[in-house]
Amino acid sequence: SIDISTLTRQTGLTTIDSGFVNTASTRSAITFIDGEKGILRYRGYPIEQIAQKSSFLETAWLLIYGELPSASELEEFDTRIRRHTLLHEDLRRFFDALPTNAHPMSVLSSGVSALSTYYQDSLSPKDPAQVEISTIRLLAKLPVMAAYAHKKSIGQAFLYPDNSLSFVDNFLKLNFGTLAEPYEVNPVVSRALERLLMLHEDHEQNASTSTVRLVGSTEANLFASVSAGINALFGPLHGGANEAVLKMLGEIQSSGEGVEKYVERVKNKEHGVRLMGFGHRVYKNYDPRATLVKESAHEVLAALGVKDDLLDIAQELEHIALNDDYFQERKLYPNVDFYTGVIYKAMGFPTRMFTVLFAIGRLPGWVAHWREMNEDPATKIGRPQQLYIGSPARDFPTR
Ligand code: ACO
Repeated sequence: SIDISTLTRQTGLTTIDSGFVNTASTRSAITFIDGEKGILRYRGYPIEQIAQKSSFLETAWLLIYGELPSASELEEFDTRIRRHTLLHEDLRRFFDALPTNAHPMSVLSSGVSALSTYYQDSLSPKDPAQVEISTIRLLAKLPVMAAYAHKKSIGQAFLYPDNSLSFVDNFLKLNFGTLAEPYEVNPVVSRALERLLMLHEDHEQNASTSTVRLVGSTEANLFASVSAGINALFGPLHGGANEAVLKMLGEIQSSGEGVEKYVERVKNKEHGVRLMGFGHRVYKNYDPRATLVKESAHEVLAALGVKDDLLDIAQELEHIALNDDYFQERKLYPNVDFYTGVIYKAMGFPTRMFTVLFAIGRLPGWVAHWREMNEDPATKIGRPQQLYIGSPARDFPTR
């Protein structure tokens, strides 16, 4: 076998693969996907079984450390995370200084970047103890920062975390509790949110995870790498799609044009309009997460007694698209984002928080990949080639 750098040097040949459709950037033992068969497994465990039997933190441990935790390991992990939820008081002032109308994703990525300034004792990617404490700090503080971003966007006072509560319940209270009244967590909402977060925990080399790995390959610290991942997730073709789906459904509803007309516009590629929440680079049959999310959508809305016309519009869109040649030929199916927004809305989250929820879910995957990359002796700094298509050499004019 011959090393790829030597081959490139010897032959002078370079492959161009726009969007990395067929270029593996790494070997990884974390997540397996078979896009044709609609299979997703975390460390070998099928996503359907994870969603049914695990918890967010147990799955996080599995992704990060490679095996399921024992009961005592999980308890210790949970306790450590609960102990690190508090944010530095100055960080609260940092949030105060940002504009109220800032998008919560921008607030979140800024907050995670700022963690590098508060925890300068844990920035070395090569010191296992520092990596460990940074992992705990991120898992503990990201949901708190996310809730702060939410409270800021609606002009309400920030709450302190309640560490007697579980990861998900604490997050719900930080978002929906107020200083004025006691807050009771609804167990249906709590379990549904936990399930959604688990479904988002990892998805191998997607755009944000690849970003985290690329930034990490320069030996940048974990906070800097994850902050870059949050920014990559922000875009509507990636995590921002869950927000874009709800906007699309709302527009279909308010325009009164009807679902079929909208689908026609998508097929005619009018102004590049796409069916948001449809299509996936890897899944060409169905996205197994979308099936699980759709089940949750019905359960949560029924349990909360919410009737939302947007769910009906989403179902009609799905039905029409799945029976249409345009979507069949291109193998376009609902992805994980198609139904999540309807659930988050029923739970009471504003649309601009949807991608933030995705970020909390994806955090364990980002951390697992960053650590795997960092521990792999084969890791090199990520540095793609290009094919230069600009001007040939020319002399600068004499003036
Ligand atoms: N609606 C309408 N047509 C679509 C859609 C869509 N959602 N997605 C792809 N197509 C069409 C393209 O126009 C193209 O058609 P053409 O061959 O006639 O030009 C064909 O399907 C292939 O599309 P590509 O853009 O080449 O597919 P790619 O794998 O690069 O894109 C992506 C994948 C970005 C997810 C795309 O399907 C999309 O834009 N979907 C909508 C946004 C979305 O839901 N993103 C979330 C993805 S999942 C996640 O990040 C969690």
